[in-house]
Amino acid sequence: MYLGIDLGTSSVKAMLIDDAQRVVGSASSREVATSRPHPGWSEQDPADWIRATEEAIAGLKAAHPAELAAVRGIGLSGHMHGATLIDRQDRMLRPCIMWNDTRSHREAAALDADARFRAITGNIVFPGFTAPKLAWVKNNEPDIFAAVRWVLLPKDYLRFWLTGEHMSEMSDSAGTSWLDTGARTWSAELLAATDLDEKQMPDLVEGTDSAGTLRPELAARWGLGDGVVVAGGAGDNAASACGMGTVREGAAFVSLGTSGVLFAANGSYLPNPASAVHAFCHALPATWHQMGVILSATDALNWHSRVTGASASDLTAELGEALRAPSGVIFLPYLSGERTPHNDASIRGAFAGLGHESGRALLTQAVLEGVSFAIRDSLEALRSAGTNLTRVTAIGGGSRSRYWLKSIATALNLPVDIPADGDFGAAFGAARLGLIAATGADPLAVCTPPATAETIAPEQALSAAYEDAYQRYRRLYPAISAATA
Ligand code: XUL
Repeated sequence: MYLGIDLGTSSVKAMLIDDAQRVVGSASSREVATSRPHPGWSEQDPADWIRATEEAIAGLKAAHPAELAAVRGIGLSGHMHGATLIDRQDRMLRPCIMWNDTRSHREAAALDADARFRAITGNIVFPGFTAPKLAWVKNNEPDIFAAVRWVLLPKDYLRFWLTGEHMSEMSDSAGTSWLDTGARTWSAELLAATDLDEKQMPDLVEGTDSAGTLRPELAARWGLGDGVVVAGGAGDNAASACGMGTVREGAAFVSLGTSGVLFAANGSYLPNPASAVHAFCHALPATWHQMGVILSATDALNWHSRVTGASASDLTAELGEALRAPSGVIFLPYLSGERTPHNDASIRGAFAGLGHESGRALLTQAVLEGVSFAIRDSLEALRSAGTNLTRVTAIGGGSRSRYWLKSIATALNLPVDIPADGDFGAAFGAARLGLIAATGADPLAVCTPPATAETIAPEQALSAAYEDAYQRYRRLYPAISAATA
């Protein structure tokens, strides 16, 4: 048996799989609270992650005690980029500054202006990434900065609690702005540029390698044996890719979660920071990936749901399943700024083209189309970075809406595959990494794609109307940006 633990932004999920990779069971914690003390800030208390992990494991233990006792390997996945700062006594110095916190946009721009960051990491220094957060802490909380002994990513803090080790792996570390992404090592030069030292960073392994063993005290509490291996694991996107079998060149998925991601696996390192595409290490050795990241995907629909007082599923149900031509109402989903392709933390969303006839359903349609067009922007960014996709698989909560999938297929002009029923997300991918680390199995033989249940084809009859609406969508960003700057 193998255990995957995914530290999600809103909860922790634990999943048990057997040697044949069948899902034996899974359990989720209650919600993990996010505090937003100022506009653009987003923080979590790492003590809540531990509580949530305990809760999820307790759920598994209650339902599957014998299977849990047979676990030999654990894999970890988690939200990326967060700054978890630890002192010499391994005490938490402040709440974790999360991936969707944009307070450090000035520091990010300053680091990004230093050409070494893009050259070595292959990425823009985005405000959500870790290095600018440390620059912000140095500028605003100098006593805390001076006390930092370890900078850990969120799931690596969980690993520290699980194993006592300060360790990380390549895929998550690629999102810090301190990794030499091509060489898969920390860059002493970039760390020095933010007044940090390699000694403050955890040692690196590949996601498929062992990175410690479960502490005996926890093993005893949960009823596990001795020497349970904890794999390097992965950032949540790379972990989902391991779950979806998106590990070979050309494979891709679109994830409609809180944020939206268009993810492509690459057999080589293919950076193109000018397009705001992310070029990161994958969780498998000698593998990389690219992704376009939009900050509000289902979050945009959830915002619309809060404003209208109707549930997200009622809103999408109201549209029906037949794809409609864009109505002329355009929505920019930049509710918390945007990464790909604009790298603009201060831009905000907009509705344009409203008329007396623009009722709730028309606005829902525009919200879904706006997210589809944002993902099309990511597709163009990946193209400019040398990746040509021929199809994508859809995952995440938003992929439950067939209307949305049709809209995405048509906006991307690509077939969208829906995986056969099952849970192939980050917790499953993490469990696969736990299996590989514990058994030495061949990663490519383990990380295979699920069967496709159905393929949604682009609606050719609406292609021209979608293309026209996409071009209008593209013209809105510079106009809104200039008008609201
Ligand atoms: C990726 C990113 C998000 C988080 C969310 O760069 O910021 O996908 O990992 O979980």
